[in-house]
Amino acid sequence: MRFIQVESYEKLSRMAAGIIAAQVISKPDSVLGLATGSSPIGTYKELIKGFENGDLDFSEITSVNLDEYVGLTGENDQSYRYFMNNNLFYYININNENTFVPNGCADDLAAEGAAYDEKIKELGGIDLQLLGIGLDGHIGFNEPADFFTKETHVVDLHESTIEANSRFFASRDDVPTKAITMGMMSIMQAKKVLLIANGANKKDILQKAFFGPITPEVPASILQLHPDLTVIYSEN
Ligand code: F6R
Repeated sequence: MRFIQVESYEKLSRMAAGIIAAQVISKPDSVLGLATGSSPIGTYKELIKGFENGDLDFSEITSVNLDEYVGLTGENDQSYRYFMNNNLFYYININNENTFVPNGCADDLAAEGAAYDEKIKELGGIDLQLLGIGLDGHIGFNEPADFFTKETHVVDLHESTIEANSRFFASRDDVPTKAITMGMMSIMQAKKVLLIANGANKKDILQKAFFGPITPEVPASILQLHPDLTVIYSEN
């Protein structure tokens, strides 16, 4: 594991984008595992700059996102599909047909999860997975539990996650209580993992996740077993 602490969110974003850019340049048909939330916004802005100035070409890239709220369509501005379209996809030359986000409105969510895992397998797995980390240690929406779940599955979001995510919604009651998330198998099988975190409030959970015991109570701790993990943290 490489644990890199930097002095600002801007630097974190430039570094993370640099790692993703290197992946896109060295393997133009890479499968990128992508995340939503506040942490990757700066990274996506840097990637857009790279596209605009002609350094990066996403035309052969495929993306698979980690998760989606259950019950929100892609047109809902709180959905993760909407987030990805508006923070990255619309501004680069990725082929929309090669961007995958779990469908939180599928009639059969279990079947949707199985099909999502099958899709990732068909694509040959993830080359580089970008992650954030929740205050309770979740990655994707793999919340603290008694065991790690391998497959893409539906989860009940924990109170602390609903609370943390309510900042994006008009009211706390509007935050969906369930999500569909990639499980640990696809994340751990990614060839490279890049986790970014910023803010003093993430310090304790990073300490537990990367310097404490490996336990499903701190889901991100499983990443300690990943052979190619980079964590970039900025306290500011
Ligand atoms: C988002 C995701 C979540 C976030 C995490 C941190 O797709 O999977 O695990 O990465 O909740 O969110 P932020 O970056 O908003 O602190």
